[in-house]
Amino acid sequence: MKELITWSDKYNLGISEIDSQHQKMIGIINTLYRAIEASTEKEEMSAILQELIDYANFHLSTEEKHFKEFNYEDTVEHTKVHDMYRERISKFTEEYFNNAIMLPFEMMDFLSEWWTGHIQGMDRKYVPSFHEHGMK
Ligand SMILES: [Fe+2]
Repeated sequence: MKELITWSDKYNLGISEIDSQHQKMIGIINTLYRAIEASTEKEEMSAILQELIDYANFHLSTEEKHFKEFNYEDTVEHTKVHDMYRERISKFTEEYFNNAIMLPFEMMDFLSEWWTGHIQGMDRKYVPSFHEHGMK
């Protein structure tokens, strides 16, 4: 099956709860990608987009919950970056439903770059703190 992002070991952080959520997130992005390629109808697209939004919210708030529990030093900065993501995606979906035809491709570029970059960059920084608090 065609994939926009292929999961690889470089995305593993060594924290099973987070790794499986990231993997599921990439899976939803790939599903959205295939739906766009197949010119799926808006009704079905809207269900996939809703899952993309809901699952991302679930995942980002899982991380934020642990930041608070562990008193993580970069909580404020990291949460700000999550909020920027949430805003960007809600703008994208709003514009998509207002008929901006090219939007899905822009959105896929954004999703692909954001998640792969964020996982390997900012997320990797919390690994020592999460490990210290017993997560594995
Ligand atoms: Fe994050």
